Amino acid sequence: MKTIVMTGGTSGFGAVAALQILAAADTRLLLGARRPGAEGIETLPLDRASLASVRLFADALLTKLGDTAIDSLVLNAGVQLPTDSRTEDGFETTFATNQLAHYLLLRILLPKLAHGATVVITTSDTHVAIKKLDPEGWAHQQHHGFLAGMRAYASSKLCNLLTARALTMSETGKRLGLVVTAYTPGFTPDTTLFRHWPRFLQPLQAVVKLVAPVVRLSSAKQAGGTLADLALGRTTPPAGRIYAALAKRRLTWPDPSELARSDAAAKELWRASARMVGVSEDPANIAA
Ligand SMILES: NC(=O)c1ccc[n+]([C@@H]2O[C@H](COP(=O)([O-])OP(=O)(O)OC[C@H]3O[C@@H](n4cnc5c(N)ncnc54)[C@H](OP(=O)(O)O)[C@@H]3O)[C@@H](O)[C@H]2O)c1
Repeated sequence: MKTIVMTGGTSGFGAVAALQILAAADTRLLLGARRPGAEGIETLPLDRASLASVRLFADALLTKLGDTAIDSLVLNAGVQLPTDSRTEDGFETTFATNQLAHYLLLRILLPKLAHGATVVITTSDTHVAIKKLDPEGWAHQQHHGFLAGMRAYASSKLCNLLTARALTMSETGKRLGLVVTAYTPGFTPDTTLFRHWPRFLQPLQAVVKLVAPVVRLSSAKQAGGTLADLALGRTTPPAGRIYAALAKRRLTWPDPSELARSDAAAKELWRASARMVGVSEDPANIAA
């Protein structure tokens, strides 16, 4: 029996992936979410905008798992918020939700990962827009306007990629032989990620959805199927690659941005995230 733990399985392409994982033979899926997943999916409450909720979810999950190890951890949930807001912990919401919550969950669940476990973190190709690492600045920024909100999203997605990289560099990652992928579905217009966009952009979304098949943009069905394949280990990264990108509906393994390939940036982000969520920086865990 394979045990898969997932976030972001209630909407968008994550919901498609969750159903496919559920249908796989000898597989148990445990979902962390704000609301119940589809029928048959075991769901535990998780609001990633709250670090206390992440800790409660992890506690409940560990109790439920008992001695069972996690074979696959899929950190897929994400938000895109054009308007500025703060979490109860005082962090900018996009950064806190997309980076800090997943980082904390990863750190708590690391000791529960099976040897050779799969870890998939959903990132975005928008990460290429960010040229300089600034975790403390991103955690406390106040962004004004749609484009600034999109930059906040892109920087949080760069963090997802760097966290995946840091995990492959870590002693634990190496010792356990973790199979780590940072996955981007590419622009996938038929999900609910854009639900917070301003009203005036909504007609544009409708047009993009219409032309999506013609210009071969990703669909939730395909992006979800690919995520399920990664989660189930049906698709594995080629040697030395961690960035999986759907491009024109084909899975590719390109280089991410130069900053996303920086070992120094990966280590700096890992340590800054540790300080912000209140866990040890654990220098022994990250390759010196
Ligand atoms: N769509 C794209 O073009 C695109 C491109 C690149 C990367 N991505 C990334 O792909 C992932 C999935 O996105 P999607 O397009 O499928 O978007 P979506 O339809 O909005 O789904 C997002 C998922 O994250 C969950 N989530 C959001 N905030 C949460 C919170 N505070 N606590 C717990 N769960 C939360 C949502 O739960 P609810 O059901 O409760 O809302 C939902 O299950 C995200 O990480 C996104 O950044 C998307």
